Amino acid sequence: MKPKTVVITGGASGIGRATAELLFGAGVQVGILDANASNIARTMDKLRLQGPEGSAIGVPCDVSDEKDVQRAFAHIEGRFGPLDGLVANAGIGTGGGLLHELDYDTWQRVLAVNLTGVFLSCKYALQSMLHYHTRGSIVCTSSPAAFVSMAAGEVPAYSATKGGVSALVRTLAIDYASYGVRVNAVVPGATETPLMWDDVPLSDRERLRAQVAQEIPLGRLAEPIEPARAVVWLLSDASTYVTGSHLVCDGGILAKGSISV
Ligand SMILES: NC(=O)c1ccc[n+]([C@@H]2O[C@H](COP(=O)([O-])OP(=O)(O)OC[C@H]3O[C@@H](n4cnc5c(N)ncnc54)[C@H](O)[C@@H]3O)[C@@H](O)[C@H]2O)c1
Repeated sequence: MKPKTVVITGGASGIGRATAELLFGAGVQVGILDANASNIARTMDKLRLQGPEGSAIGVPCDVSDEKDVQRAFAHIEGRFGPLDGLVANAGIGTGGGLLHELDYDTWQRVLAVNLTGVFLSCKYALQSMLHYHTRGSIVCTSSPAAFVSMAAGEVPAYSATKGGVSALVRTLAIDYASYGVRVNAVVPGATETPLMWDDVPLSDRERLRAQVAQEIPLGRLAEPIEPARAVVWLLSDASTYVTGSHLVCDGGILAKGSISV
């Protein structure tokens, strides 16, 4: 299993945590960056229970803050050595409502975490990969919202950031191909994580879960480990000729795009 050392942003919950668990189990050195310090502690406890295979460091970090990101990457590189993998995955799903009513601060915050956070994580991962010639692999988490409008609507900032992430992935794939660095995106569909339900009142969740499941061709939401497996494949030597691509893991949502007759 290549790589040796992978940084995962948003690695203390959901898809990021499932990815951390898979990599740790495969003996990879995992650096978990997350804004939620108590979830980092819980994740580290869980990894310790999982067994001695890998090693992990958790670093509290706001991916939208350049100094924080720079410090966190330096800390992980200091402990584990050069990076050869990045999962730029931290995100927030704040809907915010219709655009004409969306406040400027909400727009800025979603862009700062979901897009600037990916820029900054890629920047410091690439500096390490180029400096040490590690020919690494970067996986950014996009969304079906980068390609189609969400049926429920009212997620303009989130959708704009994911479109931006997908464009960035294609650009970086070309810019860094000659350095041997691959850059791809994973496109999870509706996945059972806190982000999926953050904006939904508790009393509505069961009804909405059943409705969403019915709209997905595979008839259910994903468990976090399902997109995580796609991420691990993109990081691994099994995908050495794959760059600039999107690996869609959405239960058929994007393939559907049709009316009933
Ligand atoms: N869950 C879904 O249905 C779904 C679908 C498509 C794409 N995604 C994307 O998957 C990624 C992971 O989301 P998830 O569903 O696992 O959600 P999640 O809420 O379980 O995990 C997101 C993690 O990002 C962290 N985070 C938030 N802001 C941060 C910041 N400023 N700095 C550092 N960490 C921060 C959170 O603390 C959390 O641990 C996101 O980019 C999301 O947009 C999720």
